[in-house]
Amino acid sequence: MDFRLAIAEQILVALPEVSLTAADVASMLEVPPDTKMGDYAFPCFKLSKALRKSPVMIADQLAGAIQADFIARVESVRGYLNFFIDRAIYAERVLTAADAQGDRYGSDNSVESKCVVLDYSSINIAKRFHIGHLSTTMIGNSLYKLYKFFGWKAVGVNHLGDWGTQFGKMIAAYKKWGDRETVERGGVDEMVKLYVRFHKEAENDPSLEDEGRAWFKKIEDGDEEALSIFNWFKEVTLKDAQKTYELLGVTFDSYAGESFYNDKMGPIVDELRAKGLLKEDQGAMIVDLEPYGMPPALILRSDGATLYLTRDLAAAKYRKDTYNFDKSLYVVAYQQDLHFKQLFKVLELMGYEWAKDCEHVSFGMVSYEGQTLSTREGRVVYLDDLLHQAIQKARDIIKEKSPSLENKDEIARQIGVGAVVFFVLYNNRIKDIDFWWDRALNFEGETGPYVMYTHARACSVLRKAEAQGLPEEAPDFAALADPEAQDVVRLIEQFPLILKNALERSEPSMITRFSADLAQAFNKFYYERRILDDDMGARAARLMLTRVSKNVIRVALSLIGLAAPERM
Ligand code: ARG
Repeated sequence: MDFRLAIAEQILVALPEVSLTAADVASMLEVPPDTKMGDYAFPCFKLSKALRKSPVMIADQLAGAIQADFIARVESVRGYLNFFIDRAIYAERVLTAADAQGDRYGSDNSVESKCVVLDYSSINIAKRFHIGHLSTTMIGNSLYKLYKFFGWKAVGVNHLGDWGTQFGKMIAAYKKWGDRETVERGGVDEMVKLYVRFHKEAENDPSLEDEGRAWFKKIEDGDEEALSIFNWFKEVTLKDAQKTYELLGVTFDSYAGESFYNDKMGPIVDELRAKGLLKEDQGAMIVDLEPYGMPPALILRSDGATLYLTRDLAAAKYRKDTYNFDKSLYVVAYQQDLHFKQLFKVLELMGYEWAKDCEHVSFGMVSYEGQTLSTREGRVVYLDDLLHQAIQKARDIIKEKSPSLENKDEIARQIGVGAVVFFVLYNNRIKDIDFWWDRALNFEGETGPYVMYTHARACSVLRKAEAQGLPEEAPDFAALADPEAQDVVRLIEQFPLILKNALERSEPSMITRFSADLAQAFNKFYYERRILDDDMGARAARLMLTRVSKNVIRVALSLIGLAAPERM
């Protein structure tokens, strides 16, 4: 039930001379800062001109005329009409609706077969997965789940960074100093070592650079040996990354990365030329974006090589042709703001009206204990190290507090990952994140483990109730009129709107924060009220509140990519 709209309708019944729709009036309603002033307030001055009456007179007139079962009382206070919703009816309507929708509560069934393509994580080959990639991976994963929840078809793309001259250097280094077994065993770490050594030695031996270039040329020309080494580098990287994705519970529908577009850029360059967009500039080919206040978009280097942007043009078109998306989102850090502005502008200049459906979901940078991340200076946190530490901490706590828990390893994984992911998804995505080990590994206060623990607590109450035999009495919703229960109901009522806003703004943090708020409100209720009351009507109502809270917390957690264990 939409209480705003229902109140608006009551106002219009009492004021037939006003020619506004209920939706108009509903949008004028305010939520007073303090519930002592009502649940909703109507500022009557908004109608005083049309009615040619003072706000005070209008408020007085309305106060005498409005009557509805769900309105406990109205008060006219200095030109405001304050509405107090009947607490029992409020709880009844909100909980009944949420309970009936079960796992679907909060979703929107009006979306018909729309498709979104999400580009997230998009890691680079031969580089280790560090905390800098956590935001894109988890924001993308959350949006992927959220869109699906709202009935969209979602395509998750890991646009691998698997092209560039550095891979020629890596092959040169591997051929000189590497061996297959060491790389197989050491994985990405070994490849990084080779790369670092290449750069060190190249300082004294410039011929190495030529060798690197020659190997890259071989990759480009499709040389068998070069390609087989390169593809193997890719396999090793993905095998490493896959372990991290598994811990995180993140999946993709496609791993088509930069190299996938090698044969798809020729047609794009031709098309740019045919559309008169390509210009020569010191031997390079560019699209002039000066009229739009941007530096030129570099399409071909003077040696004919394509660029990151060229690949993204081909990728954008490929995604439209393949998935016919209604929306295409790129979850990438804000350092690439300009890149995506240029990309979308060029697509628009090419005449693709769907350029407007492409959107850069940018996010802030990660620093490490107050300083920028730097692999060279050792200021770097590898994701698998972090996750394993968090999981170990969870395991230790479980061992101490619930030694008889079944499935300890899996639950420790869920809790540990929950702590880390919750930490990165807690703030507005555009805010920079300063990473501190103790904060990411914190399990108390507004953290993932705390929310998960609340969920498990609700599950435990429900199990206990069931063991005692569920009440046959109908819920007595008057038992939910206290402030603690009402706070929980109010949050549950807001859930659909929170999700809608999170989707529209691509902002998973709204869900993260909501889950913490609901957990907190539920815990307060749990401590202040007796859920398993002797009065069976009250017990039934409080159990219903517990059940719905549990479901909503679980759905909220799942939409930020987290599990909700039933026991902890
Ligand atoms: N691999 C790139 C990086 O790590 C991100 C790629 C983002 N996606 C894209 N279509 N450009 O910076």
